[in-house]
Amino acid sequence: MVKKYRFGNPFATEAVVKDVPVSEGKPLYGEVSVGEGFSYSYSMAEGDIVYGLGEANRGINKRGYCYVSNCTDDPNHTEDKCSLYGAHNFILVWGKETFGLFVDYPSDLAFDIGFTRSDLLTISCERADLDIYVIQGEDPADIVKQFRRLIGRSYIPPKFAFGFGQSRWGYKDREDFRRVAEGYRKNHLPIDMIYMDIDYMEEYKDFTVNEERFGGFKEFVREMKGQDIRLIPIIDAGVKIEEGYPVYEEGIREGYFCTKEDGTPFTAAVWPGYTHFPDVLNPKARAWFGAKYRFLTDMGIEGFWNDMNEPAIFYTPEGVAEVTALMEEFLRDRKEDRREDARWDAKLDQKVTVIKLREKLGESSGRREDYRLFYHQADGKRIRHDQVHNLFGCNMTRAAAEGLEGIDPDKRFLLFSRSSYIGMHRYGGIWTGDNKSWWSHILLNLKMLPSLNMCGFLYIGADLGGFGANASRDLVLRWLALGVFTPLMRNHAAIGTREQECYQFEGIEDFRHILGVRYRLIPYLYSEFMKAALEDELYFKPLAFDFPEDKMAAQVEDQVLLGNELMIAPVYTQNVSGRYVYLPERMKFVKFLPEGKISEEVLEKGHHYVEIRLNEVPLFIREGKCIPVVDAAECVADLDMETVKLIGFDGASYRMYDDDGVGRNYEEPGNWSVRSLG
Ligand code: GLC
Repeated sequence: MVKKYRFGNPFATEAVVKDVPVSEGKPLYGEVSVGEGFSYSYSMAEGDIVYGLGEANRGINKRGYCYVSNCTDDPNHTEDKCSLYGAHNFILVWGKETFGLFVDYPSDLAFDIGFTRSDLLTISCERADLDIYVIQGEDPADIVKQFRRLIGRSYIPPKFAFGFGQSRWGYKDREDFRRVAEGYRKNHLPIDMIYMDIDYMEEYKDFTVNEERFGGFKEFVREMKGQDIRLIPIIDAGVKIEEGYPVYEEGIREGYFCTKEDGTPFTAAVWPGYTHFPDVLNPKARAWFGAKYRFLTDMGIEGFWNDMNEPAIFYTPEGVAEVTALMEEFLRDRKEDRREDARWDAKLDQKVTVIKLREKLGESSGRREDYRLFYHQADGKRIRHDQVHNLFGCNMTRAAAEGLEGIDPDKRFLLFSRSSYIGMHRYGGIWTGDNKSWWSHILLNLKMLPSLNMCGFLYIGADLGGFGANASRDLVLRWLALGVFTPLMRNHAAIGTREQECYQFEGIEDFRHILGVRYRLIPYLYSEFMKAALEDELYFKPLAFDFPEDKMAAQVEDQVLLGNELMIAPVYTQNVSGRYVYLPERMKFVKFLPEGKISEEVLEKGHHYVEIRLNEVPLFIREGKCIPVVDAAECVADLDMETVKLIGFDGASYRMYDDDGVGRNYEEPGNWSVRSLG
C-alpha cells in the first residue's frame, strides 16, 4: 500500500508514474516539522536496518552516516563524501517497523541515518515543497516491488550491451580505435563495444565528429561493426559557445539554453571552454536536444553515454571575476612586498588557458553559488536551477531516450548517464562515475549494486579497473571478476593513467578467460535482467532479502544475491588467494577455471574460507537451483544458444527468458522457456 503526502507546492519531477491520491495528516511512522525548512524524523530501534539511496557512499546498510542528495561531479570518492553523481531518495527501513519512503524533492536533501544521534533518522531540506510516499508491504521485497511499480519499468538495453566494452579517455583518432579493436580481436579477448570519449568530437562540440581524425566516420563505424564492435560515443551536457556552430546558433535563436536572471544565456566552462546548457527541463528544448542524436545514429551509432550532466561546472565568468578580484588583491599585496623581484612581475602576465585556469581555480569547480545563477523554463514557469538541480542529468538522458525513440521507435539503443534522479531509470542506465584504481572501490562498486536496483536502476556498472590512478594487473583481474556480473561491464580509465586494456598486461590468457566467463553467463544474466525489468524485481539483492530470519545474513556487506539462483562474493583484497564467505544456506560453490573447466563443490550453511585464484571466477548456486551457461564466444552475436547447459543441483529447473535483444516485443510468451537439470 502506498500513501502520498504533499507539502507546499512541489515541482512535478515525473519520478512517479502512478496516480496516488494525496492522504491527509502526517506521514506514517515519522514526525514532521515544517517551519525553517522541512524535516521528517523517525525513531529507530537498535536493530533497524536502512537500505536504499541508490548511488550513495558507504554500506549496503546505510545506517550510521549521513548522505546528501546533491548531484555532484566529484572524482574523489573517499569515505567522507556525502554526495556523488546521483540523487536517489528512496530508503527502506526494516525492523521495529518496516516501510519504504520516497521523498520526491529535486534539490538538496539530507539523510541523517543515525549519524547525529544513533537512534534517529532525519530527512531534511530547505523548502517545504515536496511529496513523500510511504510504502507498506508484506516484507522488504514486496515494498521494493511496490515502489518500482510506482516509478515505472526500468530501462532495457539491447542485448549486445551485455557484452564487454573497452573505454579510455585519450583515444584520439581512427588508428587508436583500430589498435584497441586489434588488441582484443587478435588476442581473442571477447568484446562488443569500444567507447568514444570526448576526443572524437571537433573541439568537444556535441554532435560533431573531428574530420581530420575521423573523416568518413560512417565507413569507420561500419568497419568496426564488421568486426562486431560497436562504437559508443559520449555526449556532454554543455554546448560550446562558438559562432557558426549550428547547435549553438539554433539554441540561441530558439531560446533553448538555460538563462541568467536577466534572460541572457547562462555561461559555464566545461571541457570545451565556455558553454551554454540546454534547458532539458523545457519540453521544447528537450525535444530539440534529443533529436540531435540523429547526427550520430544516421552514421550507424547505436548507443551513447551522457556525461557532465550534474551539470558539472568548472567555473563561470562570475566565479572567475570573483576569484580574479581576490587574486589581484592578493598579488597587489605581494607585489608591494617583493617590488625588486622581476620574475614575479613576469609571472603576472602569464596567459591562463582553460585547463590551467581550471587547476588554479580548483575550488571554483562546482561552486554552489553558480547553481543559483541560472534558470529553467519548466512547466510554463521560470525556476531557479538550484531548486531542481538533481533533475538535470535525468532530463538530459530523457531527452536522448525520447529523441532515440523518435528516430526508431522499435529499436533498443544503449544509453547510460553519469548523473541521475529516480525516474531516469526508465530512460537509461548509469555508470558510477570517476572512481579510482583502489581495492576499496571494488567493494564500493559491489555495495552500490543492490541499492541502485531498489531505486529502479538495473543497467549499471562501475569503471572496471578504476578510472583515476594507476591500475595493477591483479586489481584489474579481480575487478573484472566482479564486472562479469554487472549488466554494464566496461573497463574505463582516465587520460594519463597506466593503460589498462586487457591486452596491456602479461598473461593475457587470464583476461581472455575472465571475459569468456562473462559471455558464458550471458544467457543467465540477460534472463535475470529481463525478469527484474519486466517483473519489477531486484537483479542484485542484499542477502537479508531472501534470508530474513538469518541474523548473520543481515550483516554481510561484501556478498550479494544475483537473481534467484546465485550469490556472488568477489575478492577485493590484494595479495590474497581466497576469502571468507558466509553461506545463508547450503550452496554449490562453482569456480570457472581456465581452459573452460568448471569446479563444483557443495558447501554447507555457515562460514567458509574459499580459495579463488586470480584467474578464477567464483559464484555460488543456491540450494536446489541451477543456471544456464553456454560456450564462450568473442561477441554477443556469436553466442550459440544450442550449447546451453545447466549447472547446479540435480532436479532443479530454470525459467529462462530470451529474445532477439533488439526490438521491444518483451511480452511475447514465446520468450519464456523452462529448462530442467537431471
Ligand atoms: C568525466 C567522465 C569520464 C570521462 C571524462 C572525459 O570525468 O566521468 O568518464 O572520461 O569526463 O570526458
